[in-house]
Amino acid sequence: MERTFVMLKPGVLQRRIIGEIMHRLERKGLKIIGLKMLRLDKTTAETHYAEHRGKPFYQDLVDYTCSGPVTAMIIEGEEAIATVRRLIGPTNVKDAPPGTIRGDFAAKTMLNMVHASDSKPSADREIGLFFKAEELCPWEDGNKEWF
Ligand code: CMP
Repeated sequence: MERTFVMLKPGVLQRRIIGEIMHRLERKGLKIIGLKMLRLDKTTAETHYAEHRGKPFYQDLVDYTCSGPVTAMIIEGEEAIATVRRLIGPTNVKDAPPGTIRGDFAAKTMLNMVHASDSKPSADREIGLFFKAEELCPWEDGNKEWF
């Protein structure tokens, strides 16, 4: 079992597709074990995206991420990190095939709907940045043999 961090960006709320995206993750058999909406302050957004500091899109990315509420999730499942990234599709929306979240809903890379951790160290760091330990809600999966 693996845990990963998923953040639905402010545009998802505007487009009214939070449910659609969560539905896709759930249908795959992934478990939501942490969920909240929050408005990021600049420092948290800068910390979250620190690896992109200095890139041409960095300031716009931080501004966009702080422009409205995000929906933060902790997702658990077998190979959850890779599985979620496959469902989301590549960062550059021009490369994102139909059937992926970005391929189906995003037209611009900046507005690519979803952030998901790219590795175990990133997942641990991002979960720790967005969630306190007591906010996690692990649950026993009574359906796991069907997924
Ligand atoms: P995300 O997976 O959240 O990680 C970094 C984000 O930066 C990425 O999704 C995009 O929203 C944004 N991003 C990455 N590359 C570009 C780019 N070339 N132009 C605009 N935004 C980008």
